[in-house]
Amino acid sequence: MKAVITSTAKYLPESVLSNHDLEKILDTSDEWIRTRTGICERRILKDPEQATAHMCSKVALQLIEKRGVSADEIDLIIVATMTPDMIFPSTACLVQKNIHASNAWAFDLSGACSGFIYALHTAAQFITAGTHKKVMVIGGEKMSAVMDYTDRTTSVLFGDGAAGVLIEPGTDENHGLLDAKLYSDGNGGDNLCMPGGGSLRPTTHETVAQKLHYLQQDGRQVFKSAVVAMADVAMELMTRNNLTAEDIDFLIPHQANHRIIQATAERMGIGLEHVTVNIDRYGNTSAATIPICLAELDETGKLHRGSNLILVSFGAGYTWGGIYLKWQ
Ligand code: ACO
Repeated sequence: MKAVITSTAKYLPESVLSNHDLEKILDTSDEWIRTRTGICERRILKDPEQATAHMCSKVALQLIEKRGVSADEIDLIIVATMTPDMIFPSTACLVQKNIHASNAWAFDLSGACSGFIYALHTAAQFITAGTHKKVMVIGGEKMSAVMDYTDRTTSVLFGDGAAGVLIEPGTDENHGLLDAKLYSDGNGGDNLCMPGGGSLRPTTHETVAQKLHYLQQDGRQVFKSAVVAMADVAMELMTRNNLTAEDIDFLIPHQANHRIIQATAERMGIGLEHVTVNIDRYGNTSAATIPICLAELDETGKLHRGSNLILVSFGAGYTWGGIYLKWQ
């Protein structure tokens, strides 16, 4: 029995932070950001009383409404995030409370930008094992909460948002989540991290003064690794499943940099018309980028029974991987 996606949804906060807005507070330019990253604007969750759980709950409510099921039919909620509302309780438990999913258990999964891919593959195991019937997988991030808006090398890249899917058992073996390949390499950890606020460096006046509570990255190193890893895993999935470029209806890549997306598509031999791109509008929303792309494809009616999709991601950890799915 394969897991199939039966509902998709997304939530983007209304407030837009454009490159031109950033030009006013940073030594940067719209031209630099657009040409180096492909980003024109990103969304920011402005209300200080709202965070990742708020956005994920909006997604969760849409998922059940679109599917026409009630919250108490949900068995499990997995939230992929690296910007949880708090270290504990989990953001997934907050979502479970907010939507009154009284029969669901819930947990967070930490996979940074690959969080959604990791979570979707994890969730599928509960479906294929036959123990769960309805599992929600949501990627949500309030990246603005971990940005240093005086650092032009990071703050221009990220935005806030959430999106997710409901998965259920499919009716046949040939549709749904057909293959997945996930990787980790902890040796890349120092190149992309938030050093403070955990048990190693609990928050103190000193950690805050040193800005250890903000995301830090060596962009060049991450870029080099991401280009190779995303293309390699996409090719691996194609080879393992005897897929040619013509067979792929959509590549859904993590949205970190338009140049990484292009390089991945080129390696696979597919045209950009078969690649979902929304980095121009939302920037890098980490675990939310892939489900946002998926929800947009679904909303615009581009997914049909039999559509072949490849989802690929790369993120902090390092974490990376891909999923091959055939739309039901
Ligand atoms: N505006 C203007 N100039 C800038 C800016 C900016 N916003 N940011 C950097 N620069 C400058 C740099 O200071 C540097 O100047 P110098 O040559 O005088 O030193 C110059 O631009 C070039 O800097 P690079 O870092 O070499 O620029 P690059 O072309 O590599 O682009 C970028 C930087 C966009 C960060 C790119 O490396 C990238 O996309 N990296 C990957 C990011 C990523 O994939 N993250 C992974 C997932 S995220 C997750 O898991 C959370």
